[in-house]
Amino acid sequence: DLPSFVKIVEVGPRDGLQNEKGNVPTSVKIQLIHKLVAAGLSVVEATSFVSPKWVPQLADAKEVLKGIQQVPDVRYPVLTPNLRGFEAAVAAGAKEIAVFASASESFSKSNINCTIDESLVRYRDVTAAAKKHGLLIRGYVSCVIGCPVEGAIDPSKVAYVAKELYNMGCSEISLGDTIGVGTPGSVAAMLEAVMSFVPVDKIAVHFHDTYGQALANILVSLQMGVSIVDSSVSGLGGCPYAKGATGNVATEDVVYMLHGLGIETNVDLNKLMEAGDYISKHLGRPVGSKTAAALRKL
Ligand code: HMG
Ligand code: MG
Repeated sequence: DLPSFVKIVEVGPRDGLQNEKGNVPTSVKIQLIHKLVAAGLSVVEATSFVSPKWVPQLADAKEVLKGIQQVPDVRYPVLTPNLRGFEAAVAAGAKEIAVFASASESFSKSNINCTIDESLVRYRDVTAAAKKHGLLIRGYVSCVIGCPVEGAIDPSKVAYVAKELYNMGCSEISLGDTIGVGTPGSVAAMLEAVMSFVPVDKIAVHFHDTYGQALANILVSLQMGVSIVDSSVSGLGGCPYAKGATGNVATEDVVYMLHGLGIETNVDLNKLMEAGDYISKHLGRPVGSKTAAALRKL
């Protein structure tokens, strides 16, 4: 049975813009977030409070978060890699944070410069502080299918990290196929392993579309009971520390598929396409969603 409603977590302003070579003005980031919320998205990941040496694209995190006119009942999570980022996020008005661990040792090292277990120790401090402030916490596991260095990742490693994040108080665990190598078979095996430790209604899936498998992977996740899907307007995205990774699955394409299946999202596809047009124009490239490209030709 498929879920009747799917909550889409829009990650374009963060996962998308963290990977852009050109400079995107703060005001454009803020406008993009406003347009995404106007399209009906109830969760829009806004930015990251990470080291500007590591991700210069998001060095304006404070200005972005303070510049958003927050709409009640809309969530604007921000990534926080450590207590320093957490404190900066809270000072800028964050009500929800996300911590991000990896199922691959190599990727953990290249992305956050520590081992998996070191990151979990760090995140215990961050999540304890977040709970004290009454903040919601998302927990990411990256490289859940494969790693650019280590190749295939065993589902038991994903399940271990997911369980640790869940037990430290993450209310949602997002499973990221960072480099987009998964197919429905490997995704199903990975989800099965995680579901032994994390309730299915707390699981989100986060697919990059490098090999064109994201929609198939989402469908198999829905069939297994998942009802939270991360995606990125116009398919923006990629990770500067994951060579070869392309964008996230496009939100427009996810919405088209879900609505076609009779699944509700509360998202207005036309308004969403306006947000996609807006950011694509600013980046000087054609819109990265097949659905948007097709509908614009009608
Ligand atoms: P480090 O170099 O090991 O740590 O970085 P450090 O403590 O030595 O800090 C380095 C410098 O950054 C210092 O500055 C710190 O003060 C500063 P300096 O003293 O040299 O002038 N610093 C900070 N500045 C601002 N905010 C902070 C902060 N922390 C330290 N919070 C660190 C360790 C974790 C900070 C670094 O590796 C980092 O920021 N990494 C973030 C990388 C990142 O954002 N990657 C992309 C997101 S993950 C992703 O995309 C995958 C996902 O989408 C899921 C999927 O697709 O699967 C989530
Ligand atoms: Mg990602």
